[in-house]
Amino acid sequence: MKVAVLTISDKGHQGEREDDSGPEIKEIFQRQGDEIAFYEIIPDEREMIIDKLKHLADNEIADLIITTGGTGFAPRDITPEATKEVIEKEVPGLGEKMRKETAKYTELTYLSRATAGLRARSLILNLPGNPKAVRECLETVIEIIPHGIAVLKGDITEH
Ligand code: MTE
Repeated sequence: MKVAVLTISDKGHQGEREDDSGPEIKEIFQRQGDEIAFYEIIPDEREMIIDKLKHLADNEIADLIITTGGTGFAPRDITPEATKEVIEKEVPGLGEKMRKETAKYTELTYLSRATAGLRARSLILNLPGNPKAVRECLETVIEIIPHGIAVLKGDITEH
């Protein structure tokens, strides 16, 4: 699986905060043998997020595009909205599963509006911004994602 990691953070982009979450995601996938095809830090700018997601999906740069950050209540948090603008089909179950199964760590998980969806042959998945949330949330969905990607790419037909 080719994975793209997009850290969405004003402070991370300006170099005011170290991006711990992007490297965390990269490491999790590298450990299981996946290729990191792309990694970048961009600010919480709607148009930039949209352009980047479209570029990654439409040029088949990654099968799985993971965003981290910008899913909360801060005025500039816009990642789920930008994601919804580019996806062709929403996959609400991944956000639901992450929230349901990580509430045992913190009920603040329900404040994340993270979603997921399909564009072209890519799955876009939002994760919250902090590395602890990244680890907790990713763990709940990482095992079911490859099946979805295989179906999306036509490698498995389910009829
Ligand atoms: N989900 C899990 N599993 N663990 C966490 O620590 N933090 C929450 C939430 N989701 C958290 C979590 C908090 S405090 C916020 S503000 C929201 O994610 C949104 O984070 P974001 O704006 O960085 O995306």
